[in-house]
Order: sequence, then structure tokens, then C-alpha cells
Amino acid sequence: DSIEKGGYPHFMLKEIFEQPRSILDSMRGRLELEASHLNMGGIRAYEQKFVNAQRIIIVACGTSWHAGLVAEYLIEDLARIPVEVEYASEFRYRNPIITERDIVIAISQSGETADTLAAIELAKSKGATIFGICNVVGSSIARATDAGAYTHAGPEIGVASTKAFTAQVTVLTLLAMIMGQKRGTLTDTKLRELMVELDTIPAKVTKALELDTEIRAIAEIFKDASNFLYLGRGYNFPVALEGALKLKEISYIHAEGYPAAEMKHGPIALIDENMPMVVIATRDSSYEKVVSNIQEVKARKGRIIAVVSEGDKVIPAMAEFVIEVPHTSEVLMPLVSVIPLQLLSYHIAVLRGCNVDQPRNLAKSVTVE
Ligand code: G6P
Repeated sequence: DSIEKGGYPHFMLKEIFEQPRSILDSMRGRLELEASHLNMGGIRAYEQKFVNAQRIIIVACGTSWHAGLVAEYLIEDLARIPVEVEYASEFRYRNPIITERDIVIAISQSGETADTLAAIELAKSKGATIFGICNVVGSSIARATDAGAYTHAGPEIGVASTKAFTAQVTVLTLLAMIMGQKRGTLTDTKLRELMVELDTIPAKVTKALELDTEIRAIAEIFKDASNFLYLGRGYNFPVALEGALKLKEISYIHAEGYPAAEMKHGPIALIDENMPMVVIATRDSSYEKVVSNIQEVKARKGRIIAVVSEGDKVIPAMAEFVIEVPHTSEVLMPLVSVIPLQLLSYHIAVLRGCNVDQPRNLAKSVTVE
């Protein structure tokens, strides 16, 4: 058992620490920096379909659905194709409008999730092209799709998904870049810039992992909280959802993720001196707006744990705790900003004595409805 865990106390921690490697594995052969070339075998036969797609519909569940939300930002931003992200369980039962010019992207770590599989079958029957992003080779979803790309994250044992998420986001980033290139919505300069930056992500994730001890100390302080709010905007909004889900899954603390500006339409009523708020406030196009959201929380005495870009001078004066992550392009930030949130939930769960790798009532893959 301890050999399988590679010396880590839990699979989840091992998998969190594997991410520099698993992200690299997901890019291998796809990002060729020297040749300035992007390559994804799976889309080759369907390239024209992707270029001419009138819409992309993403179907997934759980953490994979959060990766889908990141992809919505990526694909609309870089390739200018409208994207809808659907819970597979809702999509399959709501008589959705699907045409032959739609591309459905199904995202699944296990490739066995029953609702995602059923959503694929439905979309197929309406003539859509189905592209799968799976981690498990030869899985049911990988076989049911027309084409796809594997994430190459390696086996994920911990029920709470970590390295599979960052691998999915990596593959979706590459896909959005390729589509942007083929559709001419990304300039060569911008594309090159993103390629160079993507290449630095494994090293930046390694750096973010060095925050482990610091984050454990924060976990000690908040381990007995009964609620948590996670806020983010733009690319960091899905990261807020994922951070909250990680905490719920393994520590059984109630947590909600929210788009920071939407807070004033409800969650703000919950804020008092007992409410920990994790705010993802890295330097990007919504930075100034998030800073005002932090001020609103502070005015109501909420306890702020902020995830910021290295060197931030403004937020440390406002937040009780600051976690500095390496800076990267806004488009790639989820790959870095999610790391401290994974570690925070891991340490809180361990300190609460929870079964981190096999949380109660949850299954690694949900093969029934
Ligand atoms: C279960 C797992 C989650 C996972 C979700 C979707 O709920 O516990 O970690 O995100 O299923 O699974 P999939 O294998 O389709 O990504």
C-alpha cells in the first residue's frame, strides 16, 4: 500500500504532487515548442467539422464539468465558437436541440460515467460529432465517441479528482489553441505567446506545490469551520467551483463556489466574522473588480484567504491570509490557481480525521444513474 502511494500518506496527495508530470504528459507530442507546432491526432479526421462548427456542447459531471466550464472560456475566447456546458444528467432528459453542425465534447476521467455516456448516445442519434476527452484508455466513453484525445494523467485512485482535472484543462487548452489557429481567430503572435507560456506551466505548478507547508498552517486555523465560500471571476470562476467541491467531497464542510460579483445577490447575507472566504484574485482582466469584491467582504468582517499572483502589493493589505502563486497568462491560470485549493481541502480533511481517499457516500466512477 505504502509503495503504491509512493511514500505519500494518501493517494490524493500523491496525485496532487504528480501534476507537474501529468500536465507535461498531457502536452507531450502535442505542444512542439521548437517547431512552433501544435498537434492533436484525435481531431485530424474531423478538422473541417471543428473549423465549421456552429456550436460546441460540452457534457460532463462533477469535476469534469468544471473542466468543461474552463473550456467554455477558452474556446469562446480563443476560437470564437459559442459553447454550452451541460450537466450530462440534465442534458439527456431535456429534449435538447442538437444538429449535425454541432460538436459535442464529452469529458470524463473514468470514461464510465452513466449520465455522460447516455448524453453521448442521445447526441449521436441526432447526428452530432462526438469528441471524447477521457483518462482511461479503452473505456466505454472513449469507445462510444467518434474521436478524442486521452489526457494521459495516469491512474487516479483518490475519489476526489485532482490530476485528472488539470490534465483535462491542459488538453482543452491545446484544443482551443488549435481551433483558434485553424479558424484564424488567434494571431500567430498570440498563439506563439501562449505556446511559450503553456510550456512553463509544469514548472509553475511545481512552484505552487511548494506552498504546501504554508497551506497546512492555514488549514489548521480553519479546520473547524462549518461553511466556506469560494469566489472567483472569469477563468477563476470555475476554479472557485472546483475548490468548493474538493472541500465538500473530502472534509464534509459545506462550501459554495460563486462568481465574485454574484455574491451580492445572496451569499453576502451569510458573511460574518465566522465565514472563511477563499478569493481567487490573480492578476488578470477582472483583478480590479475582484479587489472591490474583497473590500465588500472585509467590510462585513469575513475572513479572507486570497490566492494572488506573486508580488501582489494590494491584496496583502486587505486579506488575513495570502497565498502567492506564480503568475501566468489569464487563459492558463486555472492550471496554477487550483493547486493551493486542492492542498487546502486535503489538509483540512486530514486534520478533521476524514477518509481522504474514500470519502463517505462517494464513488470514483458513477456507473449507474
Ligand atoms: C464522481 C467522482 C468525481 C468525478 C465525477 C465524474 O462523482 O467522484 O471525482 O468528477 O464522478 O466522473 P468522470 O469519471 O466522468 O470524470
